[in-house]
Amino acid sequence: MSFLVTGCSGFIGYHVTQTLLERGERVIGIDNMDPYYSVLLKEARLEGLRGFSGFEFYKGDINTEGFLEGLLERERGIRGIFHLAANAGVRYSLQDPCAFIDSNVRGHIKILEFARRLERLEHLVYASSSSVYGGNTKLPFSEEDPVEQPTSIYAMSKRSDELASFTYSYVYGLPQTGLRFFTVYGPLGRPDMAYYSFAQAMTQGVPLTLYDKGKPERDFTYISDVVSAVLGVFECPPAGGGSRVLNVGNDKPESVGYLVSLLERFLGCQAQVINKQRPSVDMERTWADISMIRGLIGWAPKVSLEEGIERFATWYKRDGSKFIG
Ligand SMILES: NC(=O)c1ccc[n+]([C@@H]2O[C@H](COP(=O)([O-])OP(=O)(O)OC[C@H]3O[C@@H](n4cnc5c(N)ncnc54)[C@H](O)[C@@H]3O)[C@@H](O)[C@H]2O)c1
Repeated sequence: MSFLVTGCSGFIGYHVTQTLLERGERVIGIDNMDPYYSVLLKEARLEGLRGFSGFEFYKGDINTEGFLEGLLERERGIRGIFHLAANAGVRYSLQDPCAFIDSNVRGHIKILEFARRLERLEHLVYASSSSVYGGNTKLPFSEEDPVEQPTSIYAMSKRSDELASFTYSYVYGLPQTGLRFFTVYGPLGRPDMAYYSFAQAMTQGVPLTLYDKGKPERDFTYISDVVSAVLGVFECPPAGGGSRVLNVGNDKPESVGYLVSLLERFLGCQAQVINKQRPSVDMERTWADISMIRGLIGWAPKVSLEEGIERFATWYKRDGSKFIG
């Protein structure tokens, strides 16, 4: 019996795969090594996974005709899927919207079609996003809040995934959980995300851009907490082949300005700041109501932003500057 992780060379996929392998599981990893950010970083993550005998990697795109079908022929014993492959990046989704529809929406349906044919599948856990809450102003964001107004193509693609998953559970009884991740950060993270690009600018002595003087807030969630949520939820599939969504966030929003001050402290350098007005696709504040996941599996985040940024900065000083966004 094995697990399938899509997007295994990505930030979250890599950490989930590594933890499964450390537990002695067999993991089939898929990634198309998309060059949206440093492929060197994706290769470095893969390198870490290749050291485990239980790991098998298939380089390919989930949308390529015959790719998943070929996998289905070879791998009948998959008991769990962690579908984490996607085009991420809210602003990039406005530049290349069709790429987001291809990877995130069409790709999600391809995975659902694959999953429904697996006889031994216990649970499909897939990545959604806090961005589905769009322009909502009621805080914290709850899974019961309306999510009909996505404010970016990326958010629209993730909400579409949730709807498609609902349909597949309804029609085929496929047990699924969509996890709405809130700003995940940590070592081997994504160079396109603010905390990483800020670290790059600060250590190179280049100015960084802050919106609304650093006042916007994010519910920054540390990677090891996210991995424990992903793997914990897997053990608890919805009854009767149903579909649900759960927030995975830190339940403690902090301002982007405070994030910069922590990076200054732990990287030991000063930020030069250019202030600009926040673009409309950027949310003003995110904050996860985590009562649902807490009630279901007893999950709660353990790593504070101060500890998490210290760990990230330690890794960044050693390795992170080699990779660019
Ligand atoms: N990191 C966050 O803060 C965050 C927040 C909310 C949601 N998410 C979601 O979590 C998931 C993982 O995010 P991440 O931060 O690890 O992103 P990531 O970009 O680091 O990882 C995604 C991986 O998927 C691969 N990929 C993309 N399209 C593919 C395709 N068509 N076929 C095969 N592989 C493909 C990419 O090469 C990449 O390695 C994504 O679905 C993302 O939208 C992430």
